[in-house]
Amino acid sequence: MTKDSFIIVTVDGGAASGKSSTSKILSERLNLLYVNTGSHYRSLTWALLQAGVSAENERVVADYLKSIPIGRTVEGKEARITLESHTLGNEIRSEAVNNAVSVFAAIPAVRQFLLTHQRSYQNLAREAGFFGLIMEGRDIGSVIFPEADFRFFMYADESERARRRLMEGQVDSIQKRDQMDKQRKTAPLTCPEGAIRIDTTQLSLDTVADKMTKVIQSSKKSKPRSQKS
Ligand code: DC
Repeated sequence: MTKDSFIIVTVDGGAASGKSSTSKILSERLNLLYVNTGSHYRSLTWALLQAGVSAENERVVADYLKSIPIGRTVEGKEARITLESHTLGNEIRSEAVNNAVSVFAAIPAVRQFLLTHQRSYQNLAREAGFFGLIMEGRDIGSVIFPEADFRFFMYADESERARRRLMEGQVDSIQKRDQMDKQRKTAPLTCPEGAIRIDTTQLSLDTVADKMTKVIQSSKKSKPRSQKS
């Protein structure tokens, strides 16, 4: 793979389905810029909670978003969102954010606010000399990059996903979040048509990453595709 054969890889799935860890492995292996879009929704949720903005009034949320200057920064192979030029840390994984993030993520104005931002990482990856972009979330293969070169969808048994969160020491009602993410009207969590489905329940991270690498490396693709806006 080279800079001239720039690829876009999307990874979607529910909470704790294995998206982040395997996407990071692939990013290292294939020199792809890694973007975790869950952290975008988490960062905005944290800011909205701090400002005392309720999710009940979409207009107030939309107005508040206009006042938050967001940006991007690259650290190693990962690009992250910045709010007022700063990245956020563990506060975006707090119980308060876990409980509120799906509520804010269901608001169309919030999703619209992040759509252009998320698509802009494609150019960032090109400009920074990466061989491609790997972006994970809930609607990446269906809405953000529907014409991506490789689209994956991950899932795992609920008990295994709960065990994973427990191992991370997080209090997170993944079942409730998944339900809300699947049921929302705008850009719900879904397996994009034609995406490659991977059941990660019994597989190690390396095995999942091997499967994905094989799919990508066995492809004949050599030309970048343009993204429709
Ligand atoms: O990946 P995560 O569990 O950190 O994501 C947190 C929440 O953000 C998730 O429950 C729903 C929302 N999200 C979304 O709606 N769309 C995305 N592309 C990524 C995350």
